[in-house]
Amino acid sequence: MNIKVLTDYEEMSICTAEFIIDFVQKKPDSLLCLAGGHTPLKTFDFLVEAVNKVQVDFSRCKFVSLDEWVGVGISVKGSCQETLNSSLFDRISIPKEHICFFNGLAENVEAECKRIDDFIKTNGKIDLIMLGIGLNGHLGFNEPNINPNLYSHVVELDDVTKEVSSKYFEEPVSTEKGISLGLKHIVDSDTIVLIADGVKKAEILKQTVEGEKTNKVPSSLLQDQPNVHLFLDKEAASLLEG
Ligand code: GLP
Repeated sequence: MNIKVLTDYEEMSICTAEFIIDFVQKKPDSLLCLAGGHTPLKTFDFLVEAVNKVQVDFSRCKFVSLDEWVGVGISVKGSCQETLNSSLFDRISIPKEHICFFNGLAENVEAECKRIDDFIKTNGKIDLIMLGIGLNGHLGFNEPNINPNLYSHVVELDDVTKEVSSKYFEEPVSTEKGISLGLKHIVDSDTIVLIADGVKKAEILKQTVEGEKTNKVPSSLLQDQPNVHLFLDKEAASLLEG
């Protein structure tokens, strides 16, 4: 794991955006997977700014979704796809056919998982995946006690995830289940970026980096991977010893 500690959320976001920009400049037809959630929002602002300044061009990149709440459609503000659309894709005009996202309303969830797995296979592999981290160490919706060999799958969400979920939505929605890329997709990715800010993430970051490597804390399973880049603000890194 490569760990970079930045002063604050702003610096963490700039540094993450610069890393992604540099990556895409080197491989302009990358397959990217970018997490929703709140942590990446400022990173997306910097990516949009860089596109406007013609420092980077995402038009040849493809994008696959990380996860979605089952039963929550794209029209719901706070769904993962709506978050990515409004904070990034709609602002930099990505061609629709370059975006392959889980449909939270799919009736046949197995077929939906296969559709996403096939999209990744067709494009080779994920070149860069940018992840946030849940308070319970989840990556996407790879929840505590995850089977690390899974590709896309549907999962019963952990109590912590359900509790936190209300912060994303303006109206109450059911967040019992999620549909997510598997941990196997994540570890198979060429480059893994994990970002976190704020003191509330400090304890899970300590477990992720310095705790036991266990599927009880899915993020700890990334410990031995040299292609993992952590961008943390000071608060999120405050309990780390190194
Ligand atoms: C959410 C999402 C993840 C996200 C993570 C952290 O539940 N399933 O994709 O990365 O939890 O979210 P946040 O950045 O809002 O803390």
